[in-house]
Amino acid sequence: MSDCDERRRRLLTVGMAGAAVLLVPGCGGSGNDPAPVDGGGPAEAGEDDATDEGGDGAGEGGGCGETCAAGSKTLELTFAKYPQLKNVGGSVNTSASGYKDPSCGLALIVVAQPTAGKYVAFSAGCPHQCCTVAYNKSRTEFMCPCHGSTFNTSGQVVVGPATKGLQQLSVCADDCGVTVTLP
Ligand code: FES
Repeated sequence: MSDCDERRRRLLTVGMAGAAVLLVPGCGGSGNDPAPVDGGGPAEAGEDDATDEGGDGAGEGGGCGETCAAGSKTLELTFAKYPQLKNVGGSVNTSASGYKDPSCGLALIVVAQPTAGKYVAFSAGCPHQCCTVAYNKSRTEFMCPCHGSTFNTSGQVVVGPATKGLQQLSVCADDCGVTVTLP
């Protein structure tokens, strides 16, 4: 209707459509402009997603970082960095600085969520000849690729040639991720 509206329309067609607020000379900020658009953009990425969906038994008070205390002998695997850990059957093989497993002296660990909300962590060095075991989601077992040893979700040998189980590490999960305590 007004002259101001007409000028706004022209500016839009000239290619300023991306501007958050159209400032037309002579058409000061009357009350008809909606508030600046800045707050309404897409949801913030990252942390919110991780905190909202992670709810693995942490309870309402167990927000990010409040349930599992990090310490000098802990390894934190955040859901932001390892989103697969949020899923049942998800797993991560990684190395824990300062850790050496008793069978092989390796710093490798494997963390998995075999059933909903239950996390486990083990040394990943196979006690047979120190290849690296990994979690197999479809078999719900940890498997060694070298000679076929398998381990259950308690780390015990199911199939040899390994005769010793995997060293179990204690874990804690909250909305942030999984914290592994290193011995
Ligand atoms: Fe794992 Fe031999 S090294 S079964």
